[in-house]
Amino acid sequence: MIKAIYNWIDERLDITPLWRDVADHEVPEHVNPAHHFSAFVYCFGGLTFFITVIQILSGMFLTMYYVPDIVNAYASVDYLQHQVAFGVIVRGMHHWGASLVIVMMFLHTLRVFFTGSYKAPREMNWIVGVLILFVMIGLGLTGYLLPWDNKAYFATKVTIQIASSVPFVGEYIKLLMQGGDIVGAQTLTRFFAIHVFFLPAALLGLLAAHFLMIRRQGISGPL
Ligand code: HEM
Repeated sequence: MIKAIYNWIDERLDITPLWRDVADHEVPEHVNPAHHFSAFVYCFGGLTFFITVIQILSGMFLTMYYVPDIVNAYASVDYLQHQVAFGVIVRGMHHWGASLVIVMMFLHTLRVFFTGSYKAPREMNWIVGVLILFVMIGLGLTGYLLPWDNKAYFATKVTIQIASSVPFVGEYIKLLMQGGDIVGAQTLTRFFAIHVFFLPAALLGLLAAHFLMIRRQGISGPL
């Protein structure tokens, strides 16, 4: 039955080459930990991606309960954490994953650096990687404000204060981030929009470019 459905679709859309391209692609020996244990360092990028997927999925579930306004934000997180079935697990995954993904990304970047994989012909993918790094840090900073507790509020004040010390344009950056004269209602709405729409969209585009380049160039050779 399933085979018949598959064949019906395949006759019309010729989908076999699409998944064969991925499924038949052999993992090069020098990046396969089954051959040399030290090759596990080549798994860091894939592990970073795995946690990123967890962040996206858990984040989607969090938005079902989170209320992005200063009166209800804290209470909505509190309710999710203590009343909603599995809420504590989903929030816990998003909370710890946010730190873990930064650690994994950092290890991945170190691997790329110490194997010299940023060199020609992979310079463009290194630059895309740096952009991904900024987006991930932005996700961390904007997400931190959302529970709207004391820690979130004062940490964001410090972040914005640091950003405002940029020479010449600092005050503009501060206004852009805050959305007004103080860290308040507009800041929370703004950070929420950036956290769930702007940065994830940018991340998906950048990751697509990252992976397409990896497929096109292959993973860099053994040292
Ligand atoms: C969410 C963040 C990221 C994800 C999910 C990701 C994912 C990956 C994956 C799966 C690979 C294949 C090889 C491997 O796994 O080691 C890779 C390769 C690569 N990544 Fe990333 N990456 C991320 C961030 C970065 C950053 C921050 C940089 C550098 C600043 C970077 C630069 C590169 C380069 C240059 C390669 C090619 C390396 C080679 O061919 O040896 N990536 N990435």
